[in-house]
Amino acid sequence: MGIRAAIVGVGPVGDRIYTCLKEREFPLADKPVVMATKARTEVLGGEEVEVKQVAAEHFAGVDVVFFAGREGAKGASVQWGPVALEAGAWCIDNGSDYRLHPDIPLVVPEVNMHHVTPDTRFIASPNCSTIQMVVALAPLHRVARIRRIVVTTYQSVSGWGAAAQDELRAQLPCVIEGREVVCDRSIFPRPIALDCLPHIDAFLDNGYTKEEMKMLHETRKIFGDPDIAVSPTAVRVPVEIGHAEAINVEFEGPMDAGKALEILSDPSQAEGVVVIDGPTQDPDRLAELAKKERKRKPWANHWEVTERQYPTQADILKDPWKDMTLVGRIRDDHSRPNCLNMWVVADNLRKGAATNVVQIAEKMIQRGLLG
Ligand SMILES: NC(=O)c1ccc[n+]([C@@H]2O[C@H](COP(=O)([O-])OP(=O)(O)OC[C@H]3O[C@@H](n4cnc5c(N)ncnc54)[C@H](OP(=O)(O)O)[C@@H]3O)[C@@H](O)[C@H]2O)c1
Repeated sequence: MGIRAAIVGVGPVGDRIYTCLKEREFPLADKPVVMATKARTEVLGGEEVEVKQVAAEHFAGVDVVFFAGREGAKGASVQWGPVALEAGAWCIDNGSDYRLHPDIPLVVPEVNMHHVTPDTRFIASPNCSTIQMVVALAPLHRVARIRRIVVTTYQSVSGWGAAAQDELRAQLPCVIEGREVVCDRSIFPRPIALDCLPHIDAFLDNGYTKEEMKMLHETRKIFGDPDIAVSPTAVRVPVEIGHAEAINVEFEGPMDAGKALEILSDPSQAEGVVVIDGPTQDPDRLAELAKKERKRKPWANHWEVTERQYPTQADILKDPWKDMTLVGRIRDDHSRPNCLNMWVVADNLRKGAATNVVQIAEKMIQRGLLG
């Protein structure tokens, strides 16, 4: 029969949901019903799509609604979530409005799909920076239980929404050519071109930002462990798409870099993770390095040509990895026992948002909850 799906919101996240449904061959009954604040035609996933003005009648007969609208009282899921539920649909929400609601599961399919039960009707998807962190850490947490996480994020501008990518592109030539930078302060508080801003979302009384506190509360809820300590610093960087995180993690049980590398490289233990670490094995790259060394030291008969691999935000846009969480630079923290450092990269629009909600629906189908 197929699943009847709807998408509310056609910003970068809505676009990626439409794309993911198509690319992952989600068993749709028909094209998804796409809604936003105004009716028009939009290009989504490279296709011209009719966008309807959001209204109660468009939720009739829909099995699952993916919310990718703005947050808050006038936001998509707050206004239209109850209407979708009333119409009998499951709701999966990318926004933050319900993430910490005690009756609503906050789900990353690789980590806590068991929080979804046949009685669930509304599911929240976490913040992008939380998702990639818990995907990378859950396999290690299952083995040695995490005690404390210290994380610094390097978050791309697309995390703010579509307008932020235009803002970065408009600012870059001004900064490079020494012209005055016109800055839309409703997007970023200061110019973002060629600079990093340790300021994502509003500052709170405790000196942290909302984005940073989301990483603490959401991680505890997903892991079902209120004792995990999380010390976050969220930084906006002038990258268009893809977030990176430098994570220091301390475990209760025995853990070291070798063991972590083994666990994270095992797909049966670390679903959704790809490790890009260790010396490069690429023979062309090694030959290129050897050639350079030979030029530098023509008298030698041996040239050191090791080069370590690691993932970056540019790598996450490459086809085989775009729905994955990439992990590298796994190393022991020599200042503490059972403590590691690592580098984690994911596409904030895909695994950090769209892929995550589509994967939730896929797992619901596998469990007989949907369809
Ligand atoms: N960007 C990320 O990396 C990321 C990651 C995780 C989660 N999220 C969350 O995902 C959601 C979407 O993000 P985005 O970056 O795609 O946002 P965006 O660029 O601001 O797009 C928002 C879309 O939602 C529509 N919309 C807003 N309020 C609505 C309402 N009341 N009813 C119906 N449609 C409404 C807008 O319609 P119009 O086009 O008609 O104005 C627009 O198409 C946000 O809640 C965001 O916090 C984003």
